Amino acid sequence: MAVFMSPITSVMQSPVAVCLLVVCSAAVFYAFRYFRVRTPSSVASGAKADSKVSLSLESYLYPTPEAYPDWSIETTKPLPYRAFRYGPTYHVTMGLRTVSPDAWIELDNHFPKYHAKKADRLANRLEKCVHTDPTAWDASIELLDELVRYLPARYPTLYRRTPVGIDNLWSGESFNVVQRPLAEDPMAIAARLVQDDLALMIEGEDGRYYLRGGAILLAGFWRLSDKLGMPLEEIHTSADVPQYREKLHRGMSNFFTRLRCGQTYCRNNYFIQVDDDLAWSGSIGAEDDEVVSWSTAEKDRAVEHHWFRSERQSLRRLPKSKAVVFTIRTYFHPVTELAQEDYVPGRLASAVRSWSDDVAKYKGRDKYGRVLCEYLDREHQKQLDRGLDMSKEDELHSYPF
Ligand code: HEM
Repeated sequence: MAVFMSPITSVMQSPVAVCLLVVCSAAVFYAFRYFRVRTPSSVASGAKADSKVSLSLESYLYPTPEAYPDWSIETTKPLPYRAFRYGPTYHVTMGLRTVSPDAWIELDNHFPKYHAKKADRLANRLEKCVHTDPTAWDASIELLDELVRYLPARYPTLYRRTPVGIDNLWSGESFNVVQRPLAEDPMAIAARLVQDDLALMIEGEDGRYYLRGGAILLAGFWRLSDKLGMPLEEIHTSADVPQYREKLHRGMSNFFTRLRCGQTYCRNNYFIQVDDDLAWSGSIGAEDDEVVSWSTAEKDRAVEHHWFRSERQSLRRLPKSKAVVFTIRTYFHPVTELAQEDYVPGRLASAVRSWSDDVAKYKGRDKYGRVLCEYLDREHQKQLDRGLDMSKEDELHSYPF
């Protein structure tokens, strides 16, 4: 009787064919894995990505965000970013991560303080802190439109969308974003809506990205007027950002070229400041001094004057203008408050000690390092003495918290 053998069964009876099958399946599996793993992170690492398609998506619409769970201007606390790591080595990296587009802008119960400080600076230092170059006009209007769409959906108890713009239900302000002329510079309006500082990066004919618009009101250590019109590279080299050339330059310019609509990236950093002014750290000089520098700061101020400043920065591309919006949200707390949190004094002391000389110089460690580390060591010891279990830290905290 003739036995029917399926093609698969007959193939499986030949050892050569079996080997071939195994090799081919492995190749397909690893190729699939390679592309799946490489593609999402390639933008952050500066590798090639298929940017063409989404860069040309003018009609791309960012999804309407979900409302922030239980958000309240009274009770929602600032997120506890503690974006420092244990030594022994501090790595200068871009440190970008993707976040959900819903998490673009973070607001909390410090909104009233930030809003008042910004209003004061807009009234007194407008020309120095806010600018929209004609080449950034379309982008600034698009940014306003994006905020008007995003904020009422994300923070419905704070914002209401109106036929002409947006109302702030807490402050009673009403913003008309369709009238012309606008009541004020579009970047000033954008600044009043959020706690962040905002910058617009526009691609030049040479393919580099230039700072063409901004509302930089609470930056602490730098001034919009010094950086306007500069390409990304010069913004950083003129600030003496450590290891910029070796570690950051190429990845950053690739990132800007390849950033796709729909993606939202974030990074965090941290600084120590030896005064309590959120808007401008007077320790490095007066805001209107020609040159400001850590060299003028008072050395060894008492720890009560040490403040922890941490920025949460976001980047996303605006679909129509193709501009890149850079947001800088500063979280600002006394070191003495932070040091009461489990694990924080030990980890912060280790982080500060891990800075290489160039990083230490950039962050001004010489002026406060001794006082700060002695204090943090004492607070860490108190935590150990009361039985803090160091082996639990990784379970309870992960970067950037
Ligand atoms: C991929 C995007 C970016 C990366 C990875 C990046 C990275 C950095 C790093 C590593 C520093 C040193 C301080 C820190 O650790 O944060 C820095 C400083 C700085 N960055 Fe960026 N940056 C980016 C985009 C921008 C953009 C778009 C602007 C435009 C305004 C900007 C303006 C500055 C300024 C002004 C400083 C000096 C701040 C100071 O010393 O007070 N950065 N950046």
